[in-house]
Order: sequence, then C-alpha cells, then structure tokens
Amino acid sequence: MAFLEVNNFNKTFGDKVVALKDVNFSLEKGKVLSIIGHSGSGKTTLLRCINFLTEVDSGKMTLDGETLLKAPMDKSISEAEIREKRLNFGLVFQSFNLFPQYNVLDNVTLAPNMLLLDDIKEYKKSLKAQKLPLLERKSLVKEFIKEKKAKIEKEGLEIIEKVGLLDKIKSYPCELSGGQCQRVAIARALALNPKVLCFDEPTSALDPELTGEVLKVIKSLKQKDRTMIIVTHEMSFAKNVSDEVIFMADGEIVESGKPKDLFNNPQSEQLKAFLSSANNKDEL
Ligand SMILES: Nc1ncnc2c1ncn2[C@@H]1O[C@H](COP(=O)(O)OP(=O)(O)OP(=O)(O)O)[C@@H](O)[C@H]1O
Ligand SMILES: [Mg+2]
Repeated sequence: MAFLEVNNFNKTFGDKVVALKDVNFSLEKGKVLSIIGHSGSGKTTLLRCINFLTEVDSGKMTLDGETLLKAPMDKSISEAEIREKRLNFGLVFQSFNLFPQYNVLDNVTLAPNMLLLDDIKEYKKSLKAQKLPLLERKSLVKEFIKEKKAKIEKEGLEIIEKVGLLDKIKSYPCELSGGQCQRVAIARALALNPKVLCFDEPTSALDPELTGEVLKVIKSLKQKDRTMIIVTHEMSFAKNVSDEVIFMADGEIVESGKPKDLFNNPQSEQLKAFLSSANNKDEL
C-alpha cells in the first residue's frame, strides 16, 4: 500500500457542478506530485477534500497505513477529530493568508503555541492525578511551559532559516514582499510538521521576478520524509521537481505518470492542447 492513497473521490456542488469524478491516485513517501489542468478542472477542490476543508461526497483516503477518511463521513465524527486528521496535512494557499497583526516569528509559531495549550491541560491533569501539592504543581507547570515555548521558538527559527527569512523575524506581513509573505506561509505550514505538504498555486499571485525565490524554497524542501502535492501552472517547475504528475480536466484525472512521459509524450488530445497553450506562456 502506498503512503497516500486517494480512492474514488467524488464531489458535486449543488445539483450539477461535478467538481470531482472518481478521482484515484497514490503517492509514495517523500515523493512530489504535481497537479496540472485548466481553470475549473477541480484541482483546488481535490486539495481541499484531501485537507478536510471540503467534505467529499464519496471516496476513501488512507495515509501511512491509516484510513483517515471514508465518505460519506460518519455524522458522529467531531470537529476535534477532524482537526486532528487535518494536522496530517499542511496547505499553502496562493493568497498567503498570514495574520497581519503578527510578526513573522509569531505567524510561524502561532499554531504550535495553540496546540501547546492542549498539552498544558493534559500535563496539569496528570500532575493532579499524581496528587502533588499545589505549589509544586504550579512550579512544574511553569517550567513545562517555559521549556515547550523555548522549543517551539527554536524550531520556528530553524524553519524560518530554511525559507531564508531570519533577518525578517520581527517584520509584519505588510512590510514584506509577496515572495517573502509566501515563504512565511510555507514556514507556517512546516511548523506543524505535516506528513503531506500541499500547495495551491503558490506562485500565481506573485510577480514573475518573485516566483523564482518561492519555487527555490519548495524545491529545497524535497527530501525523503516530506511528501508534497503541488497544484501549479508553472509547467517547467512541475517538469523539474515532480516525481509524478496528474493532469485533470472537468473533475477527472485524464492522464497521470512520470513528468517526462506526460510532458514529452502526452497521449490525450486534452493534454496535448493544454501543454501547447501552456507552452506559449512558459518555456518548457
Ligand atoms: N464552494 C463551491 N461551490 C460551488 N461550486 C464550486 C465551489 N468550489 C468550486 N466550485 C466549482 O467546482 C469546479 C472546480 O473548481 P476548482 O476551484 O476546484 O477548480 P481549479 O482547477 O482549482 O481552478 P483554478 O485553476 O481556476 O483555480 C468549478 O466548476 C467551480 O466553479
Ligand atoms: Mg484552484
């Protein structure tokens, strides 16, 4: 069984907008999958369904041997359980979605700090169960928080260094370029150490001269433990970085395979037409 398996995903919006039609694919650990296709072909919907942001009508998804999703979903499943499942994935949007009121370091460490609140609750419970005196408990909790926060900050700084923004940790999003904002968004997604990191057209809101720096960071993230799914309109990037490529049209996977096969030897008329129109915009 592959690391990530998506089976028979179907999604219809309203009565007639069929956004996903029997979508199937699998991805091995540490591999990069690119998803390409015309506007409206279902790429974002697929990413959103994988990330538990849109509820898929039917289908199944397994990750690392665990069945994470079986749709239609059991109505008894709680928001907290869905949030937990969602933590397996990180999603970077084209529009960054940074918190304007927080600086770079706080944007990156916010989510781990929120999760820490749950750990603190659990720790307090465990101390109480041990029946330790109140004063001792208080000082242990204080120490616990201090240690955990220091660890979160240290890891946050390491991640910010990876995306090349150590000199900007105190800057606010309004003080950064689009490319820098997108690199903060990538750092923020990495901070939760997701098993699968997903990107939805991470460079499409950027001026061409800022695209390169973001693509370079994404390329540098390619390593054996990080599995990535990238929706992109940058054909040369998809060709160079991906291990697998999926071409979607009208909610369906029309072709999939190794980038050299898809790009050099497209089989369907749809992919041929798509590549030749993309080729006019982007040197393959
Ligand atoms: N929340 C929604 N409600 C209704 N229809 C939707 C919704 N989200 C997407 N759709 C429709 O589903 C289809 C697939 O949309 P989707 O956003 O997945 O396409 P896409 O491939 O990401 O396109 P683009 O390249 O423009 O981002 C489209 O017809 C779209 O209008
Ligand atoms: Mg989209």
